Amino acid sequence: MADDRNPDAAIPSAPPTGANPAAIPRVKPTPPGTAEAATVAAAAATGVVPTPRSAPAAKPPVAPIPDLAGKTTSVASLGGAAARAATAKPAAAVATGRDPDDTSPLLTRRAWIGLAWGAFSAASAAALAATGRFMFPNVLNEPPQQFKAGFPNEYGIGVDERWKDKYGIWLVRTVDDIDQHTAGFYAVMTVCTHLGCTPNYLSAENKFKCPCHGSGFRLTGVNFEGPAPRPLERARVVLSDDGQILVDKSRHFQRELGQWIDPESFLKV
Ligand code: FES
Repeated sequence: MADDRNPDAAIPSAPPTGANPAAIPRVKPTPPGTAEAATVAAAAATGVVPTPRSAPAAKPPVAPIPDLAGKTTSVASLGGAAARAATAKPAAAVATGRDPDDTSPLLTRRAWIGLAWGAFSAASAAALAATGRFMFPNVLNEPPQQFKAGFPNEYGIGVDERWKDKYGIWLVRTVDDIDQHTAGFYAVMTVCTHLGCTPNYLSAENKFKCPCHGSGFRLTGVNFEGPAPRPLERARVVLSDDGQILVDKSRHFQRELGQWIDPESFLKV
């Protein structure tokens, strides 16, 4: 019968026969009536020392996991399956060797081939376009240098502007030319002899007026105001086989060179 007042009463004062006293460790006194006290008593009776239960190894702390709202959740606060899911690497990440936090798009081999073909096609199209552009250089489509201006009886005395826009010519019918001294037609080029602007015909003032720097020309083409240094030029004008007036811009006549007396610079009618 153990003494309830002595906590060490559960331990016999002498070891049982055959037991090595040195092999029995000192045991911390245990309260009587507990499971530990019963274990100690059994060990004392049998001479078998119970192996102390070792504490489980502490797991390393896991860093908190931030969610989309910025709130952090520790793995410890998650349930078992959730904790395993949080700590496990995604299968795709394991397969590709990518960081699980890497959210950049992953191109497949098929996508890379498509990109390569697209780039090759674009480069080929650009090269083809450049070659085509080389085959068709810039061409300035000028109106023909010669044109038939109709029959003489279709014109009255004075300046006719019907050919100005298309051919750059004023066809003038006069009763007395300053150099030919007779009635007939002459064709005035609509190019200012200052810097090449196109003058306007001012019927009320009986003159051609350049809008660029103010040069003025008589209806004969002779300059009389502004910076233009010389008269407007005349074009070749003859009668064609069918009786129409033929204007030929490929040949010019300049008064300062005495060319307005040339028979082809004036059509006598
Ligand atoms: S270009 Fe005609 S006045 Fe200068």
